[in-house]
Amino acid sequence: MLITSSEGVWLEAAGGRRILDAGGGAIVTNIGHGRPEIAEVAAHALRRLDYVVPIFATESRVALVNEVADNWLPDPSWRCVFVSGGSESVDAAIRVAQLHHVACGRPERHKVIGRDVSYHGATIGALAVGSHDRRRKGLESALPVMPKTSHYDPEQLEKVIEIEGPHTISAFIGEPVIGAAAGAYVPPDGYWSQISEICARHGILLIADEVMTGFGRLGSVMGHRALDFTPDIIAAGKGLGGGYVPIGGVYTRADVVEPIGATDLALMFYTFAGHDLSCAVAMKVLEILRDENLVERAAQMGAVLRNRLDEEFRDHPNVEDIRGRGLLQGLGLVADRDTGEPFPRSAAFADNVTSAALEDGVWVYPSGSGVFDDAIMFGPPFVVDEDHIDQMVTIARKAIDVTAANLT
Ligand SMILES: Cc1ncc(COP(=O)(O)O)c(C=O)c1O
Repeated sequence: MLITSSEGVWLEAAGGRRILDAGGGAIVTNIGHGRPEIAEVAAHALRRLDYVVPIFATESRVALVNEVADNWLPDPSWRCVFVSGGSESVDAAIRVAQLHHVACGRPERHKVIGRDVSYHGATIGALAVGSHDRRRKGLESALPVMPKTSHYDPEQLEKVIEIEGPHTISAFIGEPVIGAAAGAYVPPDGYWSQISEICARHGILLIADEVMTGFGRLGSVMGHRALDFTPDIIAAGKGLGGGYVPIGGVYTRADVVEPIGATDLALMFYTFAGHDLSCAVAMKVLEILRDENLVERAAQMGAVLRNRLDEEFRDHPNVEDIRGRGLLQGLGLVADRDTGEPFPRSAAFADNVTSAALEDGVWVYPSGSGVFDDAIMFGPPFVVDEDHIDQMVTIARKAIDVTAANLT
């Protein structure tokens, strides 16, 4: 499909067909599409500067570091490094954790514990710590083997640490709410505080992968705040640029990076890391989020979306679970909600639901892996209103019904 323009919550395809962007692309667009003030900032930034090697400061880089540290991170003393997207931010977070331990004289701490249902990106490093089965398929033999633990049971983490030996573990990585691999799965209450306690007790750095949950998506400035824990390192991407520019970042407490700075070790930059254009635009995106109270709006509209999903799918025979936080909501889709029997993988149910919804002018984000196979996610721009929400839920309902009927 050829997309030719975008505005607000809408994409427009060649021929004038409008598509309601209920998935915010890949859960990316937060301030809405087609903002003219962003185009102006981008034009101005490019007239002033083009490429500047990442070791130099630029006004936009400095401004963005200050904005992110002051308003979005656990404390203004946190350090920021910008990259070009989510996978790069996860890779950089893994490298920071490893370099931290090496700089502290613990080179044997080289493993990162991931979870049995997770997605952290598509680079070799990010795939190695993740567990999205279809996205790893065919690549397994090329991926470094990293220990995995349960996505919901902190006791299992304790066991995995014991088996591997705490002195071999550099970091634990997890998404506050699991996105692409689990369709917005929220762990049980108390999960993250227990994980934090276990990691701290064993000297293991806790990396929160906030690529999907960061910058307001869960109706809170960052996902870890919504889930009430404080990580040591944060990897983020998507919402920082609002979909207008490719940008991500890795953020750490000062004492995580300070030991690295005291050695001859260095976190090698990516050539396009923190591009001045991306920083200028991201700065404007964050300004809009704050000036228009869009994080609060994500919480409010998230509640509206959740109510509407509950109303529509509470008793639906193919919806096992309605889950999520803020404007990241998901439906777990199954052949039979009473028995929990999944659809056969060959049915590609979630993908077909997405195609059916698209036929009716709504883009939802298909997701799921392993025990969460077949889910769809809603992650619209925060400027979404009640009518849009009603439209996306009504059409998703029809798409699920039609797809299920086609299987019988
Ligand atoms: C939690 C999480 N981490 C990492 C990534 C990878 O980000 P990117 O696709 O920008 O490289 C994604 C992408 O969906 C994600 O959801």
